[in-house]
Amino acid sequence: MTDQLQGRTIFITGSGGVLGSTYVRRMLAEGARVIASDLPGTRAEALVEAHGGNANFRFYPLDVANEDEVTEIFARILKDGWEPNVVLNNAAITGELLMGAGKGFPDFADLKVSDWEKTMRTNLTGPFMVARQMDRDIVGKWPCTLINVASMYALNGAHHRIYEGMPFKNFSAYGVTKAGIHGLTVWLAGYWAPRGATVNTIAPGAVFNNHSEEFQRRVGELIMLNRMAKPDEIADAMLFLASAAAGYMTGQLVNVDGGFSGW
Ligand SMILES: NC(=O)c1ccc[n+]([C@@H]2O[C@H](COP(=O)([O-])OP(=O)(O)OC[C@H]3O[C@@H](n4cnc5c(N)ncnc54)[C@H](O)[C@@H]3O)[C@@H](O)[C@H]2O)c1
Repeated sequence: MTDQLQGRTIFITGSGGVLGSTYVRRMLAEGARVIASDLPGTRAEALVEAHGGNANFRFYPLDVANEDEVTEIFARILKDGWEPNVVLNNAAITGELLMGAGKGFPDFADLKVSDWEKTMRTNLTGPFMVARQMDRDIVGKWPCTLINVASMYALNGAHHRIYEGMPFKNFSAYGVTKAGIHGLTVWLAGYWAPRGATVNTIAPGAVFNNHSEEFQRRVGELIMLNRMAKPDEIADAMLFLASAAAGYMTGQLVNVDGGFSGW
């Protein structure tokens, strides 16, 4: 522990997932106040069970796709006495969350408009609504930063061959939303700068989460460091972006992908 995040009050969406829960743990260890949020359910319950006794932790149920809930979120947080100066647009729907665990994802030709639109709503409209609410309730009142989460498949095409025969696929709508979210970052960076707010994008690479040896081998060949990331390796960069040390950065895309995008 280095107290890297002393004085930071960090609001995170989708906090109960693989990366979100890692950010929460690491941010608390670095002295931040953490305002976690997620859909109600087992991931949220596990997070509250792990950190509910920590005076620097609070949890608010939040569906980022629900406009009424997003509109009220900062008012609720502020009413309870904490003033967020870091906002992390981390929630996203992946192919697995969309279809249900273990269910195959349809081919592109069979992709339903309703599934496309649900992905847009959660991964792009949700972060837009969070940013818009941050603009209304926080930006210009005190210095603050927004971190949007993209992916190694935001500005690079998916390598479809590595998914052949795998129980999951990369899916089109996901990559499209992750490219779009960096558009939100660069648009907002210049818009917010006069009011003392910064905004950056982090693009995590492939994070290990019990993938098969064969999948690790296939994806590893595409990565300069020849292996998937540990969640804590993505958190290392996230902690920097959330800290005061990143104060002169805005409008940037930070790839944390073992060199995937570097060749
Ligand atoms: N894990 C990876 O390999 C990887 C790689 C690149 C980018 N990312 C990105 O990092 C972020 C976190 O990913 P993760 O690996 O922890 O995923 P995850 O699926 O483990 O977690 C996503 C979280 O978002 C929440 N969520 C989904 N819909 C929501 C909604 N409508 N409102 C609020 N919360 C909602 C889920 O409940 C879940 O807790 C995502 O934006 C993801 O796209 C992950």
